[in-house]
Amino acid sequence: MNIVVIGTGYVGLVTGVALAEIGHDVCCVDIDAFKVAQLKKSISPIYEPGIEELIEKNINAGRLTFSTDLKAAVTDSSIVYLAVGTPQKQDGSANLEYIEEAAMNIAQSISQDTVVVVKSTVPVGTNRYLKKFIQNKTPYKISIVSNPEFLREGVAVKDVFHGDRIVLGADDDIALEQLEAVNQGFQIPIFKTGLESAEMIKYASNAFLATKISFINEIANICEKVGGDIREVSAGMGMDHRIGSSFLQAGIGYGGSCFPKDTLALNQIAKNSGYDFKLIQSVIQANKAQQLKLVKVLKSHYNSDLKGKQIALLGVAFKPETDDIREAASEVIIKELLWCGAKISIYDPVAAANMKAVFGEEIHVAETIEEVLYQADAALVVTEWDEIKKIKLEEFSSQMKHPLVLDGRLVFDKDQMKKAGISYYSIGTGELQLNEPVYI
Ligand code: UDX
Repeated sequence: MNIVVIGTGYVGLVTGVALAEIGHDVCCVDIDAFKVAQLKKSISPIYEPGIEELIEKNINAGRLTFSTDLKAAVTDSSIVYLAVGTPQKQDGSANLEYIEEAAMNIAQSISQDTVVVVKSTVPVGTNRYLKKFIQNKTPYKISIVSNPEFLREGVAVKDVFHGDRIVLGADDDIALEQLEAVNQGFQIPIFKTGLESAEMIKYASNAFLATKISFINEIANICEKVGGDIREVSAGMGMDHRIGSSFLQAGIGYGGSCFPKDTLALNQIAKNSGYDFKLIQSVIQANKAQQLKLVKVLKSHYNSDLKGKQIALLGVAFKPETDDIREAASEVIIKELLWCGAKISIYDPVAAANMKAVFGEEIHVAETIEEVLYQADAALVVTEWDEIKKIKLEEFSSQMKHPLVLDGRLVFDKDQMKKAGISYYSIGTGELQLNEPVYI
């Protein structure tokens, strides 16, 4: 089928390329002419393993094109995906201005009955609102289908072809059947439901995953006080199929463009409906505190005097395999350390430039792990990149002024660190190798 996808960000681009890969003729439309020009040369604006190969393959197969001209794109397509951003507003609610702008463009561009497929994460009730919004501006019949995405950054290409389910929400059976046909090629179970339920499935799924993460982080904090190793606790818990081992990895909390935004938006949705969603408020607060955990430990180790201390950040991306630093713990950590007068050097295989763009000359970007560790008074493990996991322990002792490693992603082994004579703290085990339990 001929399909148009509006928006070539993480969601739109991966969705468009995947639809082309399963055989549809897809035109991805974006207002950013530079981005479109790059995409036409199979250059992706986002770092996503495997995406450029898929772009090139489908352009060469004649199934994938990129354009800035929505009107031309929709002339021979009756299915238009909306995949534009819904960033968060000051009060935490979703900013729908980009969606409304795109919806307006759809209304002004189409020349036939059209099914609008909303991929963007939108507050419950938005799909129904958008259907009216567009229908009031065009004589053609508008159907709307809510099709939230569940892709994870860094593994989006894998997730789009191997997801657990495709959710389709609609109040129009014909549109639902059309979208079932569109998605047949993925061979992924399709869950059909109403508009509001589909919108809520997205928010509730992300909020639940965030809750799992904040829960295991709180258990980790308690283990530091009463004993127990969070890695063992998490493994033992995860063997219960009702709990499951995924999203049960303690660390310095969640970041990214989704969990922080979607938990706040869901809280606002509840508040706007007159419901006080206490649980999600605790999840959000617990995560905020967890992102600063390493700084707390560092302060207690250096008696709150970090002035002039050289601190190495190992990783700044919000997770491995992405260049994305949105809402990452690293940004919060850097801000706090700078405020304490510390000197910051960062290393990240792909996201360093994005962080440099935020802090400029206030931080140093090291080109190698050796360089970031050189003469450091402490090393903070912030992102569990493979190459950070593979650092040889003697590198810490040979390069650092004070071999002190604070492990925010449970990457290293405390017994091996002890043998190597390195002062080591890890979330959820706690004690520094100086055998001074750190109670904070
Ligand atoms: C998330 C959802 O997983 C995905 O379904 C949705 O479509 C978008 O939001 P994403 O934010 O890309 O995906 O990455 P994810 O792998 O979920 O990690 C989110 C954050 O949680 C990262 O900062 C990661 O470090 C953290 N995390 C994840 C943990 O701290 N512990 C875990 O066990 C898992």
